[in-house]
Amino acid sequence: MAHRTALFKLLRVRCGAQQGPVRRALSSQAEAKPENMKPGQTHFGFQVVDEEEKTKKVHEVFETVAEKYDLMNDVMSAGIHRVWKDMFMQKLAPMPETKLLDMAGGTGDIAFRYIKYLENLKSVEGGRSSVTVCDINQNMLNVGKVRAQRLGYTPGSCSVDIDWVCADAEKLSFPDDTFNAYTIAFGIRNCTHIDKVLEEAYRVLTPGGRFMCLEFSQLPNSTLQWVYDQYSFQVIPVLGQLFVGQWKPYQYLVESIRQFPNQEKFKSMIEDAGFRQVTYENLTFGTCAIHSGFKI
Ligand SMILES: C[S@@+](CC[C@H](N)C(=O)[O-])C[C@H]1O[C@@H](n2cnc3c(N)ncnc32)[C@H](O)[C@@H]1O
Repeated sequence: MAHRTALFKLLRVRCGAQQGPVRRALSSQAEAKPENMKPGQTHFGFQVVDEEEKTKKVHEVFETVAEKYDLMNDVMSAGIHRVWKDMFMQKLAPMPETKLLDMAGGTGDIAFRYIKYLENLKSVEGGRSSVTVCDINQNMLNVGKVRAQRLGYTPGSCSVDIDWVCADAEKLSFPDDTFNAYTIAFGIRNCTHIDKVLEEAYRVLTPGGRFMCLEFSQLPNSTLQWVYDQYSFQVIPVLGQLFVGQWKPYQYLVESIRQFPNQEKFKSMIEDAGFRQVTYENLTFGTCAIHSGFKI
């Protein structure tokens, strides 16, 4: 009983402490103008920071949450992220001989769905497929490798070649025209220079290759957006505190979602990088969106 009272007090204090800044941020800064920043500065959630500092801070976030990352995805989304990721893979519809680069692949959720999808295509003839899971954070990849072993996706016993590479999406060492598919799920908003990520995606794809991004987005309906904001800002950091003992990474998570460009703006950014036939599809009223484009 004493434990529950203490917990309740903690939540009340934390919620109270966050309400002021969050409300101010939502009203004045939800679409913070880049012109408010000095050259070399960017957003880390609602904070304005130097660009190198953002990269460091994002790294710290995922280092802190890596072990509980998968659990928290289920808790925060009530398991819905699994449906979004399944839809993402169905839209990609890989075939044998697909060479996928899964950028910001973290603990392997997209890669494992890709392997499963291809395994279910057993009757289709074709060469060997591969997936390169690439992430800037070795801790996230390490959790992914353990999961891969548990699932039996190890060299020799898996029909798809799987490779784990620690690298920054903004400067890749893969040669031009290496992959025929590039996915990035819930990763791009964490990158400091989205334009550089898109340029690199374009460079490493073969002509005809497909870029696909699954990312949180903006709800076109303002009432739904309000409800979603209440849940995001008032509940998600509390869940972080309860399940991981960490408030700040989850506050960053919700702030970073609000800072990410809306569906149309992001579509233009993908086109600016050179991709053609760029389209997007909203999932769950626009809570997130799948963008797709081709290097033609
Ligand atoms: C929210 S997780 C998404 C993981 C996985 N794609 C999923 O859907 O579960 C975001 C990932 O982006 C990675 N990340 C952040 N900045 C990156 C960068 N510049 N280059 C590559 N990965 C990056 C983080 O380390 C983290 O693993």
